[in-house]
Amino acid sequence: MDASSLERRSRGGAGRAVLVTGGAGYIGSHAAKALKRAGYRVIVYDNLVAGHRTAVKFGDLVEGDILDTDGLTEVLHRHQVFAVMHFAAFLDVGESVRDPSKYYRNNVAGAASVLSAMAAAAVKHFVFSSTCATYGEPIETPIAETHPQQPINSYGESKLAIERALPHFERAHDMSWVALRYFNAAGADPDGEIGEDHAPEIHVIPRAIEAATGGRRLEVFGDDYPTPDGTCLRDYVHVSDLADAHLCALETIVETGKSGAYNLGTGRPHSVREVIDTVERVTGRAVPWALGPRRPGDPAVLYAAPHKAQAELHWTPRHADLDSIVRTAWNWHRTHPNGYEDK
Ligand SMILES: NC(=O)c1ccc[n+]([C@@H]2O[C@H](COP(=O)([O-])OP(=O)(O)OC[C@H]3O[C@@H](n4cnc5c(N)ncnc54)[C@H](O)[C@@H]3O)[C@@H](O)[C@H]2O)c1
Repeated sequence: MDASSLERRSRGGAGRAVLVTGGAGYIGSHAAKALKRAGYRVIVYDNLVAGHRTAVKFGDLVEGDILDTDGLTEVLHRHQVFAVMHFAAFLDVGESVRDPSKYYRNNVAGAASVLSAMAAAAVKHFVFSSTCATYGEPIETPIAETHPQQPINSYGESKLAIERALPHFERAHDMSWVALRYFNAAGADPDGEIGEDHAPEIHVIPRAIEAATGGRRLEVFGDDYPTPDGTCLRDYVHVSDLADAHLCALETIVETGKSGAYNLGTGRPHSVREVIDTVERVTGRAVPWALGPRRPGDPAVLYAAPHKAQAELHWTPRHADLDSIVRTAWNWHRTHPNGYEDK
């Protein structure tokens, strides 16, 4: 978002209430901050299975499970919620392969429960955390929204199932929705108030920082891919840019009523070796790493064609370069070496 659209959006909220499921987690807490700054009232709904009480700084916390449809419906009524941003889900691809029922239950049945509660409470706007994992093995890159969606794990399937449900809820209940297909979320709040604290941590930038600060050595999964340095190429998108995109998406569907799916990425891929080099430069420390085998189902190259979100949602990433992503992540981990203190 440019400064003028941020300014316009900063008046958009006018005290209206948005329910943020999973708002005690990594991306949801950054969305809560963006919403509050734009003048919305934020209700975080989270069971804290992976989130942190102290990450909820920008609204009220209601502790609850998304599978509790009646409880959710009551909360939507009580707070006069007008829109839902739905982040609550499990997101470990490897775990989803080992334990698909966990993913179908939380990500499919859980999201369907949120939509049912919205229908019962006549809440009309829904912003959904989807993922590039819905595309599966890329046939061509960069990946546009028109790329076939053929997930290769139950995590991707669970998100695609909800994407496919959305037009049906739209027709039946007059809802407008946006599905946002994130590429690799990374970085932390530039003010240092919130950041990334997953257990176990599976994402490469916090893992590289952990290795640089004396923790577990980083494992690099294969260096014989058909890429310039042999390691996988990925599209890292700053978590505060993702948060801004949610605001852009919400305000677009409120203004236009037009639902749709959008990629959120920068369109600029970086290799794992580049990530390691950047972490070493930014932290001034070596990143101990070891070469491991390829992981099954890891495509060599994954990056977004990001133009649709930029054109239709008027979203512009403000922290698109890898250096500022790593700098903000480093600032968070340096000042919070144990993550949130409420574990
Ligand atoms: N992190 C990424 O790179 C990435 C990429 C693509 C998509 N996504 C999607 O973005 C969303 C948020 O990811 P994140 O990295 O912030 O994850 P996170 O684990 O930090 O946050 C998820 C939050 O949801 C809560 N939650 C989970 N199940 C719940 C339930 N049944 N009831 C209530 N609360 C529940 C957790 O306690 C946690 O606070 C997820 O839907 C994920 O699939 C993330």
